[in-house]
Amino acid sequence: MEIRLATRQDVPAVTALEARYYVGNLDPSEQAAGFISILHPQEWFSGAVDCAGLHVAVTDAGVVTGFIAMTPPPAHLDQVSSPIVRAILELATTVEFNGSPIAQQRFAIRGPVLIDRAARGRGLYAQFNSLTREVYRERFDVGVLFVAADNSQSLHTTTTKLGATPLAAFEADGKQYHFLAFAF
Ligand SMILES: CC(C)(COP(=O)(O)OP(=O)(O)OC[C@H]1O[C@@H](n2cnc3c(N)ncnc32)[C@H](O)[C@@H]1OP(=O)(O)O)[C@@H](O)C(=O)NCCC(=O)NCCS
Repeated sequence: MEIRLATRQDVPAVTALEARYYVGNLDPSEQAAGFISILHPQEWFSGAVDCAGLHVAVTDAGVVTGFIAMTPPPAHLDQVSSPIVRAILELATTVEFNGSPIAQQRFAIRGPVLIDRAARGRGLYAQFNSLTREVYRERFDVGVLFVAADNSQSLHTTTTKLGATPLAAFEADGKQYHFLAFAF
């Protein structure tokens, strides 16, 4: 398994993987193993590739089995269609981390992060976290993310493995989410 920066050629595979684990495409029984809350269009992933903000995990046979995005905040809030992302960008202007409001620091939005079920539990998540900390620490001071309140698996991994701190709770489209931050 190799983890490398994604190229535009990877975008269809990444989009397909995300769609497979999107909450709206999973049975409630499957959601206990974690899920994706936002379905990003291909253009979003292409933008992430163009700013060197997307890494993929690829098998020896060339199959994309996971990905992690770490992107700068969009320049304008009106470019953001997701109510969840709008909420976290608004929270970043007021919520403090390490002594000052997050939006006054160099911050990245972490996520989506996804590993195909067959590749889970093998240390890839730890590799994603250590590699992205190393690659992006020159560029960003703080990473922010959201986790759906009913995604207990993701709450566990982000708090105990990534070491992110829950800083606020919010609601978007009638669902509850946690807002978290971590230092690079
Ligand atoms: C989140 C994800 C990337 C982590 O990758 P992974 O390979 O499963 O990670 P790890 O094996 O290192 O850790 C998984 C942990 O979740 C725990 N876990 C599994 N199901 C759980 C549940 N329902 N509730 C709480 N914890 C759970 C496991 O016990 C393990 O923790 P442990 O090592 O302390 O026992 C992967 O599971 C995934 O893609 N999930 C679906 C998408 C998702 O939820 N993404 C995050 C939201 S954007």
